[in-house]
Amino acid sequence: MNELRTLAIDIGGTGIKAALLDDAGNMIGERQRVPTPPKPVAPDDLVRAIDQAITPLGSFERVSVGFPGYVRDGRVLTAPNLGSESLANFDLQTVLAEHLGKPVRVLNDADVQGFGAIKGRGIEMVLTLGTGAGTAIFRDGEVMPHLELAHHPVSGNKTYDEYIGNAARRKKGKKIWNKRVAKAIDILREVVRFDHLYIGGGNAEDITFPLPADVTIVPNSDGLTGDIHLWRKAPTAFAGADVPNGGTVGPELRGDPTGAANPDSTAEPDQASDSPS
Ligand code: BGC
Repeated sequence: MNELRTLAIDIGGTGIKAALLDDAGNMIGERQRVPTPPKPVAPDDLVRAIDQAITPLGSFERVSVGFPGYVRDGRVLTAPNLGSESLANFDLQTVLAEHLGKPVRVLNDADVQGFGAIKGRGIEMVLTLGTGAGTAIFRDGEVMPHLELAHHPVSGNKTYDEYIGNAARRKKGKKIWNKRVAKAIDILREVVRFDHLYIGGGNAEDITFPLPADVTIVPNSDGLTGDIHLWRKAPTAFAGADVPNGGTVGPELRGDPTGAANPDSTAEPDQASDSPS
């Protein structure tokens, strides 16, 4: 059996993490982490830091990236914690595919983490508590169009990022931050009516209040292991430059010997993450 190895990359506000995943989404060997270059991050700096993070890892056949901002068709639209001005319009997916010589898929980091966390049933939501506050919504395992709730005002004119992000946690202290997180959960439940909410990100471990039955903390490693699910979806779900020559992704890369796209991408859930990264 030839096992396809996926290089999983989780770009965060403070760290870039990388690991190899086997076909089942299990990590092979050690996870690597390098610091995120200082803001504003230029495209070249980002690619260099990714190179540095993946150098100790072995070979791979495909690449998935979780990016902390709005990404469409593999192209960065915003990067609030890295520098939207320096990175806006950067076609990370194509540039990395050409640079690494392997097909690449890039998605928002909270969406990726969600793939690692969800069970694939009903309306499931993910909230990541790191440098920013990432959100993702899934219906029966399918990721919904990405909403940057992080930048929606939640209290006065404070956005979720400003209200429950890492800077707020450090400035206000854990007690107030915890109250805010509890309030945010109530608001999200009211607004989204999720069946279940998964909380990830490096700051999730600072939650001290008892979680309601419909809320679970998931491991931060979901931000990497969730990456495998990007390759269990039909390529159309991640339209854009999948392969260096701009061609389409063959069935062998989808891990599908029949050549049919595998719609049941979330049949077996597992867990993933991101730190105050
Ligand atoms: C960004 C989101 C991201 C979140 C977590 C926010 O600042 O706007 O796109 O998912 O941080 O990294």
